[in-house]
Amino acid sequence: MNILVIGGAGYIGSHIVYELNDAGHQVTILDNFATGLRENVDARATLVEGDMQDLDLLDRLLGSGQGNDGGQANSKADSSSLAGGIAGSDSDSHSTGKFDSVFHFAALKAAGESMEKPGLYSQANIIATINLLNTMMRHDIKNFVFSSSAATYGSPEYLPIDENHPQEPINYYGYTKLVIEQTMAWYSQLKGLRYAALRYFNAAGYDVQGRITGKEQNPANLLPIVMEVAAGTRAKMQVFGSDYPTRDGTCIRDYIHVNDLATAHVKAMEYLASENRDLTLNLATGEGYTVLEVIKEAEKVSGRPISHDITGRRPGDPAELVAASGQAFETIGWKASHSDLKQLVESMWNVYK
Ligand code: WQD
Repeated sequence: MNILVIGGAGYIGSHIVYELNDAGHQVTILDNFATGLRENVDARATLVEGDMQDLDLLDRLLGSGQGNDGGQANSKADSSSLAGGIAGSDSDSHSTGKFDSVFHFAALKAAGESMEKPGLYSQANIIATINLLNTMMRHDIKNFVFSSSAATYGSPEYLPIDENHPQEPINYYGYTKLVIEQTMAWYSQLKGLRYAALRYFNAAGYDVQGRITGKEQNPANLLPIVMEVAAGTRAKMQVFGSDYPTRDGTCIRDYIHVNDLATAHVKAMEYLASENRDLTLNLATGEGYTVLEVIKEAEKVSGRPISHDITGRRPGDPAELVAASGQAFETIGWKASHSDLKQLVESMWNVYK
């Protein structure tokens, strides 16, 4: 199938692009490289450098099915040349069909930042995505795979969290993801959109085949921060609270390997096409690890001490977030297989060491 991956140079997106190419699909990446990395771009994909908030570019790109002629990999068409190219191209050079599916990973994802800059998050995560959906509808592209988040649930009322858990986000980032989930449900009913809302828990790890090595800059998440301390690029880290009601007092999270996320995305897209039904799934393992267990595993794998101070709690952190992940197995036959703590940490250390 002919796939457009928006944010395909990002941490999650780049892993899905490799998986899609491995599965024999044709992939076009749209990325503005605000946080995406060129070194993480799969050379088999067609690269369109541009911003999804450039409505004219989006309209031309979705109208053209760019890349379905096996376009030159990494053609760094910027919006003007791409637009020019499409406008100038004769009909049979670009449009042997259009995109069969769109994957969207280009969002802002820092929960804390979303509380300080709601306007930025409204623009990037809500308005841009609704513009994307409207453009897709205009071009009759109905298959949409959306990276949603466990943050839509808010504080757990019960554990493990299944897909029917109430959605009461406690940060604006989580709200922006919920708004799009609700919009997609309406567009499914009113416009025939066929969507998969994939709720990630804590994404971590790096490509077990070692093909993706570009590191996230200024990470806020636990694993990359632990890796930076192990690698010596960060002197010390903080453990935000050790007085939680958990087995060692530090927070428990359900970490999911990006390669596992990638296989789930491909299966979800194929399900939308074959079953013609929407999907809302948790992507997680059902297992949880504490902050100190992650640090201990990183010390074991790297052979380095991870210097850390125990400080006060970080506002908004629930003690435990673990998913019920059975629904994904029942509907798309997916189960995590790289997400044990050892593989998560080893695959990251291979990049950070
Ligand atoms: C994990 C645990 C921290 C850093 C966030 C977003 C969520 C999703 C995933 C996109 C927590 C502790 C962390 C540090 C620490 N993002 N920690 N010291 O908060 O579970 O989820 O990322 O979908 O929406 O909220 O992930 O990696 O920030 O924290 O002690 O330096 O590690 O307190 O318990 P989180 P995280």
